[in-house]
Amino acid sequence: MKVLVVGSGGREHAIVRALARTWSGDGELEILCAPGNPGIELDARCVPDVGGEDLPALVELAKREAVDLVAVGPEVPLVDGLVDELAAVGVKAFGPSRAAAQLEGSKIFCKEVLNAAKVPTAKHAVIRSKDEALAHAANANYPAVFKSDGLAAGKGVIICKDERAAKAAIDAYFVDQRFGATDVILEEFLDGVEVSLLAICDGERAYSLVPARDFKRIFDNDEGPNTGGMGAFSPVPEVPKGQIAELSEQVHQPIVDEMKRRGAPFHGVLYAGLMLTPNGVKVLEYNTRFGDPETQALLPRLESDLTALMLASVTAGGLAGRQIKFSEDRSVTLTLASAGYPESSSKGDVIDGLESVPDGIEVTHAGTARNAEGDIVTAGGRVLNVTALGSSVPEARTAAYDAAAGIDFEGMQLRSDIAAGIDL
Ligand code: AMP
Ligand code: GLY
Repeated sequence: MKVLVVGSGGREHAIVRALARTWSGDGELEILCAPGNPGIELDARCVPDVGGEDLPALVELAKREAVDLVAVGPEVPLVDGLVDELAAVGVKAFGPSRAAAQLEGSKIFCKEVLNAAKVPTAKHAVIRSKDEALAHAANANYPAVFKSDGLAAGKGVIICKDERAAKAAIDAYFVDQRFGATDVILEEFLDGVEVSLLAICDGERAYSLVPARDFKRIFDNDEGPNTGGMGAFSPVPEVPKGQIAELSEQVHQPIVDEMKRRGAPFHGVLYAGLMLTPNGVKVLEYNTRFGDPETQALLPRLESDLTALMLASVTAGGLAGRQIKFSEDRSVTLTLASAGYPESSSKGDVIDGLESVPDGIEVTHAGTARNAEGDIVTAGGRVLNVTALGSSVPEARTAAYDAAAGIDFEGMQLRSDIAAGIDL
């Protein structure tokens, strides 16, 4: 069996590790990764000259290597239609088609599907010009939430506390075009506890994974700007094991049904970003792929064969009769970020201490490179993820922080409150 993983971040490193660890099929599992990174290189054969968004090169690589399956990590190649292009040359790929990936690629489309499927979500209005936006801002309830319609690497949401802040946000969207030439939605602010619940879908049914929570802001106590994710933990106290299936029936299955009805059946990971409010669960967004860094926290707990699950999700017959099993372990993932992140990032700083990480701790590389001397150096905003398992969240948390304390690079940023106070 030969699998090609597409991407170069901590999520893809975690996928590569989980594929290898859970493989229970006949013969050997060979894992390729394009483009990969210096950490992934220790676990898979990387193809650094094939970019993760270069569709023709990826298709060519998949054909040349005669891979049995392509597992697509990030959203951009999904929204661009990589799965469709691979299907056209007879290569199976884990992930949604271009049409189904619109659930992540367009927030306006996502809201339309949510409403058609009668899944609870914040009320919203679609805004297509600055004048329309100003009219809405004058009448909105505050805080109010603006979101760019298109992909924005998790940074397209601006929460405004008053009309003045809304006017600044409107300029960012429509004058500065900070997120490109995009339409915008304005939605009601929801208060509550956030949970990420991911499901593997086979076009017919959604099979839920265990819940997780991520930490999006750069500083402790959820202060400062949003990032790609400063940490995560799993499971979460607000969604006990016995309630996962029911929650998934509310937030995943109606979407799978609706996408099938529209002739765009959903295959791959449907990631529901949820707000548990005093009035019940509401969907904040869908992503159409594994979350980052939730995946680094979730997959070390997976006990089922990930290759088999991915293959089944894109093969006739799907996942019917299968169970997705997770250990009872708790997991905590920390992100070690570089100086200046998220506004900028520093590159080329040597990372010390990687060799001293204790056994049982999973270090995944997110933004690393090798310098001319062969040292591993920083090469992006999120540099490394450190994941520990334990029989309780506090135990996993202590192990993760102890391991992270042994790693160092110039200007390293690490939140100190990931999974703090979680008694589970
Ligand atoms: P999204 O990209 O839609 O997940 O939004 C990014 C983050 O903004 C979410 O994880 C929430 O923390 C926050 N957010 C998004 N929508 C809302 C909302 N309607 N009410 C409150 N917070 C929100
Ligand atoms: N953790 C948020 C995301 O993957 O978009």
